[in-house]
Amino acid sequence: MHCTRKLTDAVHWVGGSDRRLALFENLFPIPRGVAYNSYLLLDDKTALIDTVDSSISRQFLENVLHVLDGRPLDYLVVNHMEPDHCANIEELLLRFPSLKIVGNSKTFPLIRQFYDMELDGRILTVTESDALSLGRHTLRFYFTPMVHWPEVMMTFEESEGLLFSADAFGSFGALDGFLFSDEVDFERDWLADARRYYGNIVGKYGPQVQAALKKLSGLHIRAICPLHGPVWRSGLSGLLDKYAHWSGYRPEERAVAIFYGSMYGDTENAVRILAAALAQAGTPNVAVYDVSGVHVSTLIAEVFRCSHLVFASPTYNGGVYPPMLELLHDMKALNLQNRTAALIENGSWSPASAKGMASLLGGMKQMRLLEPVVTIRSSLKEDSLGQLNRLKDSLLASLEEKS
Ligand code: FEO
Repeated sequence: MHCTRKLTDAVHWVGGSDRRLALFENLFPIPRGVAYNSYLLLDDKTALIDTVDSSISRQFLENVLHVLDGRPLDYLVVNHMEPDHCANIEELLLRFPSLKIVGNSKTFPLIRQFYDMELDGRILTVTESDALSLGRHTLRFYFTPMVHWPEVMMTFEESEGLLFSADAFGSFGALDGFLFSDEVDFERDWLADARRYYGNIVGKYGPQVQAALKKLSGLHIRAICPLHGPVWRSGLSGLLDKYAHWSGYRPEERAVAIFYGSMYGDTENAVRILAAALAQAGTPNVAVYDVSGVHVSTLIAEVFRCSHLVFASPTYNGGVYPPMLELLHDMKALNLQNRTAALIENGSWSPASAKGMASLLGGMKQMRLLEPVVTIRSSLKEDSLGQLNRLKDSLLASLEEKS
């Protein structure tokens, strides 16, 4: 049975949510599930904007057929060729013999790489700013390469001001009946997952996101319709501000995130004392994470949020504790930059994790390292406690500086 929502009189949401998938991309935990959005526009011509993942094909096809109500589908716009949005292209081609697929010169080679389907006579190749009239509605195409694949484009419907933004402005999380961000408490219930989605999926491509934001800035956008998560018809400036921070690698908040690994509790003890001292001094925004117990995608979201990052690691195999290594490697891979960092190392006979962490941070741009580095030998003693106190003072002084 169909399950759809109306965006406007002419535009319908025909997507769905998957709450069974444990790992998005077989990589990122999604305890709240994920939505795959697809939008169907009815005018003199009918046009579908992207399809969905194979896991919800049945629901999707019922939705599309219900909204079409016997009409043929004339166009399928493929803004993004990642399989979580493309699993139903062939099925639609088979069901609608006059259907044309709309994409750009980078879209169709990817379709042929992923699938074996006959495309001769079935494609419409568009170039930058091309328009496609559907009657009263006109679609115009803007290329936004590497946000976050090379073929990605966004489609702007001019008469109603709807931006179909591909993965940009998306979020992890299934839709619980609502469709619009103003139907939920986004800040409370969704922002963390939106940030985690951005940081891990798109975070590496900040300059390309900024180029896209600049290109789209002249459009009169009344709603943003991403491929995952809620649709934005209000509060657009707040969303764009988040994207400006994330894509510019500017910290979203003056905040301290402390990431620690601890094999027997001694490094954790130092972190607890530091966090308590910061709180005692009135620092309002401190978060502590055990890198062994919190998924690295959540840690990445926090490095995108926070201005000050403390890394506390045991020495392991003469270097950095493996889960901490994973976090630092991910930060580098995602191009994270422009943060203030502090280091705590622990080593019973030859402490070496601070050197390893400093080296990895040194490979990232605009990373400022606070003094002193705290060196613990097995457990905190008076000398290392003194270092920890001085590091707390350095953090407090840095937090007071103008950003
Ligand atoms: Fe949701 Fe890049 O696919």
